[in-house]
Amino acid sequence: MNLEGVSRTALMTLRARADEHKKRRRLFADPDAVAWLAKLGWPKELDRHYSWWVQGKTAIRVDHIDELVRTCREGFDSNTVVELACGLSSRRQRIGNPGLWIDLDLPEVITVREGLGISGEGQRHLAASVMDFGWMDALAGRTPEKTIVIAEGLFYYLPLRDVYQLFEEMRRRLPGAAIIYDVIGEVDFESARKFSDALGAPIHWANKSPFEQGMIDFGVATIPGLEPEGVVADSVKRAPQPWRFLLQRALKIENLRDRRSGIIVGWLAPLR
Ligand SMILES: C[S@@+](CC[C@H](N)C(=O)[O-])C[C@H]1O[C@@H](n2cnc3c(N)ncnc32)[C@H](O)[C@@H]1O
Repeated sequence: MNLEGVSRTALMTLRARADEHKKRRRLFADPDAVAWLAKLGWPKELDRHYSWWVQGKTAIRVDHIDELVRTCREGFDSNTVVELACGLSSRRQRIGNPGLWIDLDLPEVITVREGLGISGEGQRHLAASVMDFGWMDALAGRTPEKTIVIAEGLFYYLPLRDVYQLFEEMRRRLPGAAIIYDVIGEVDFESARKFSDALGAPIHWANKSPFEQGMIDFGVATIPGLEPEGVVADSVKRAPQPWRFLLQRALKIENLRDRRSGIIVGWLAPLR
């Protein structure tokens, strides 16, 4: 295995899911994460970056994004999922297949995935940078409104100007597709930056306040029933203790609420 820099972070989230699977009261089952981690091995030097905090917040995010994908899939009768920066994600294995499922990441990560023999019906790997917009060719002939794009743990690793460009291109080529992604808020930015620098995978930008700015800036329209306030309330409801208690407390403080990190779901608004 040869994962460096930002691609190494995929091992952290893999470990978090494998550890979640082993809990007595787990948020989700993920036997593949356990098996893949056992095959790859855990680099000892990552120990100092990994903690119950990293594990817990990763598992909460994974669980909630799984649920949002299910909701979008049912709501829009989706038949196509693209998981950008999939890392060592086992989402397709956890939540099943609506038709075509594309897992995209940088070539070194896809090589590791293929070495693990990850495959499923309708599941396809794409070795590319998200900034090589040719990946959208793989969706030619699919209906954008029936497509779900997932970008979990990705956008803040890219320079902000790249993220703008990528959204513009997705809005041009996949108008009406649902997109699910997470942002780091101003309240967490400094600690997240120190953490990611130490890991050798620097993050570049924080979501501006208020939280909705993370949709407006990128041309993402609200999906009725999945407004940011409802999504965060759902995140809190799904979180186990002591996370639920801590999140409830934090969200009562307006200044924290607006500057929070979190998950965004919306539609890629057509470019006018
Ligand atoms: C924090 S991991 C997240 C992996 C996965 N989404 C998850 O949550 O487990 C970040 C991932 O982003 C990928 N990545 C970073 N820059 C990328 C780019 N320009 N194109 C595609 N993938 C990228 C890395 O290789 C890595 O797998």
